[in-house]
Amino acid sequence: MNAFEGKTALVTGGSSGIGFASAQALLAHGAARVYIVARDADRVASAAHALGERAVGVAADVASAADLARLKASIEERGDRLDVLFANAGVAHANAFGATSEAEFDTLFDINVRGVFFSVQSMLTLLNDGASVVLNASVAGIKGMPNLSLYSASKAAVRSFARTWAVDLKPRAIRVNTISPGVTRTPILAGGLGMDAEAIAALDGYLAGATPTGRMAEPEQIASVVLFLASPGSSHVNGIELCVDGGLAQI
Ligand SMILES: NC(=O)c1ccc[n+]([C@@H]2O[C@H](COP(=O)([O-])OP(=O)(O)OC[C@H]3O[C@@H](n4cnc5c(N)ncnc54)[C@H](OP(=O)(O)O)[C@@H]3O)[C@@H](O)[C@H]2O)c1
Repeated sequence: MNAFEGKTALVTGGSSGIGFASAQALLAHGAARVYIVARDADRVASAAHALGERAVGVAADVASAADLARLKASIEERGDRLDVLFANAGVAHANAFGATSEAEFDTLFDINVRGVFFSVQSMLTLLNDGASVVLNASVAGIKGMPNLSLYSASKAAVRSFARTWAVDLKPRAIRVNTISPGVTRTPILAGGLGMDAEAIAALDGYLAGATPTGRMAEPEQIASVVLFLASPGSSHVNGIELCVDGGLAQI
């Protein structure tokens, strides 16, 4: 139960969905402090409040170097260092190939690729030797799905970072792994992909047939695997992509 006792973690995108569930799980397993980061200051504050006194909410945009510097300073001010970094913040937007604007391209890559890259690079000096870094990609990165070329390519880039960073950080015994969720019931479906209740119900119906486990994931089912990759129980797991998709992309 207490695999994270005395440990400090940073979860980007920790105000909602998979990030929030992961922050909750880290705290439930003994983490001394969990920093959560997201852009909307009110949502970060209320999420940190819900997580309890060992959670610290910081409003920051992972696509902004200045925000990441401010985040780093706020961790340093408390005298903390990091044992776990879950680079989870991301957005999902559909794009119509043939009518995609440069602004759509830049927004998605700024958050999903540049944001992940600099979230981790900017925290390197705060990471303890032996720390665990977990990146959130998606099974979209290994599939071809209509109108998702930007999102899918951004997630393929994230998966690639784990391969190289596992080598780059070898001298410091920092492990870097990727988690690739399948479709998970979070606000990204409505907020990012614009799905209404009817569309989500239709997706539920599709996944019941198409997924070996017969259902959409709940955020807690992804969080428990993030915990495994962050914990000493995965001490010989490095550079991988762990798909948590109920088998959807594996068959
Ligand atoms: N749900 C799925 O089906 C699914 C499947 C595969 C992979 N994923 C990945 O899982 C990750 C988490 O998504 P979720 O499903 O949990 O969605 P979510 O509930 O919408 O959570 C996304 C989180 O990221 C934050 N965020 C977004 N852009 C940010 C930025 N520029 N800077 C800082 N924080 C930012 C959001 O807060 P603010 O908006 O306030 O910034 C929120 O806290 C994403 O990387 C997503 O691509 C999700």
